Amino acid sequence: MERKKLYIQTFGCQMNVQDSEKAANLLRLSGYEATDDPQDADLIIVNTCSIREKAAQKIVSQLGRFRELKARNPRLRIGVGGCLAQQWGGGFFRKAPYLDLVFGTHQIHRLPEMVAALEDNRGRQVQTDFCDRVASLAMLARPEAGAVGTFVTIMQGCDNSCAYCVVPILRGSEQSRPLPEIIREVNLLAGQGIREITLLGQNVNSYGKTDAGGPDFTDLILAIGEVARIERIRFTTSHPKDLSPRLIASFGRVGALCEHIHLPVQSGSDRVLKRMNRGYSAEEYRRKVGALRAACPEISITSDVIVGFPGEEEQDFAATLALMEDVRFDNLFSFQYSPREGTRAAGMDGQVSDETKRRRLQVLQALQADHTLRKNESRVGKIEAVLVDGLSKNEPAEITGRTRQNRIVNFPGDPGLIGTTVAVKITQAFLHSLRGRREGQGGEYVH
Ligand code: 5AD
Ligand code: SF4
Repeated sequence: MERKKLYIQTFGCQMNVQDSEKAANLLRLSGYEATDDPQDADLIIVNTCSIREKAAQKIVSQLGRFRELKARNPRLRIGVGGCLAQQWGGGFFRKAPYLDLVFGTHQIHRLPEMVAALEDNRGRQVQTDFCDRVASLAMLARPEAGAVGTFVTIMQGCDNSCAYCVVPILRGSEQSRPLPEIIREVNLLAGQGIREITLLGQNVNSYGKTDAGGPDFTDLILAIGEVARIERIRFTTSHPKDLSPRLIASFGRVGALCEHIHLPVQSGSDRVLKRMNRGYSAEEYRRKVGALRAACPEISITSDVIVGFPGEEEQDFAATLALMEDVRFDNLFSFQYSPREGTRAAGMDGQVSDETKRRRLQVLQALQADHTLRKNESRVGKIEAVLVDGLSKNEPAEITGRTRQNRIVNFPGDPGLIGTTVAVKITQAFLHSLRGRREGQGGEYVH
């Protein structure tokens, strides 16, 4: 039987990348083979994101391009999944009448039957119900052959209610996967050559909270730290209010836990944090950063900030810059506030003009670029443990990997080193990466 061709395009976060892998693996069982050319496809799936307006606009224009393919190939089917599909549901057919399939964030497991119905010409398919065992589908997400690191979903959904965020509406309430199931998966991955695991969830450090007396996030990290051949553990994303003293104390103590935390602060103004419903003050955030650095002086701290949240005045923005000066993030992802349908902030007074948002973002990004470069420069002369994960993108004779603090390092070396950890002396720092040379003769770095 000739295999049908599937082209998947993914927008948004790592959660969506995982979901696309699950969809591809499920549909393989229905006879679909992945292609990287949409012109070749019998089925195109666009996995969508709704976090900011810009993401939604990009997706709609991409769909327009796929529509042209359908005009030339009437057998082509086009489906949308993910967050925007969850949000618009059957309404997506009105916005894009050429679509055949809409599946929500909890309906990936129904794809085979939905696609079979399309093949039987049973008409357009739409499924956007929520169900509570989605995260267990995680087993279906498989890393690419030869991958050194991979993500493991440990929970689905989010129980917070940040006023700006559409995610809890689109991904449902928080559910943690059972610890033994996660450990089984990690063992399997270790056996396949994976050396680095990144635990994935909307709010990973509240893992297990619905199971009183059961394992919490620190227990999970300790358990993964025991899995042979897993050299590195990372996690994303964590919420400052759920960062427990026990987790903080694990940095520097659990050998496999990397010295890096992504801890989104969103704003440095208490007034704005309150309106965002974040559940901590700027001072509490500073204190947590202090405790992290006391436990692990080498820890690298990265964050997310939103500028132009409704009601943000110049003095609030100045408080964010002041927090950045105090904390000195290793890196920062910054966004202009984007009103999202169904969220509380979208209806708040004091919406900030686009021009002000743009200006604030520019000021903030210039300050952060200075901090990032200085932090990177502070690594020059040091010897870093680099887990080699591939060939350098720009220099064919070089290989690339990451330090435990998550910095990219390029250096001359043998591609045979991919998958191993080596000692690299840092010789040069740039804004987005470091360069170095291998230290010592052949010996593998053991941290
Ligand atoms: N507007 C702008 N940025 C947002 N984020 C989430 N929702 C919005 C929004 N409505 C940002 C937050 C979050 C990151 C993933 O995206 O900073 O941490
Ligand atoms: Fe991921 Fe959020 Fe975008 Fe959904 S809306 S794909 S959860 S970033």
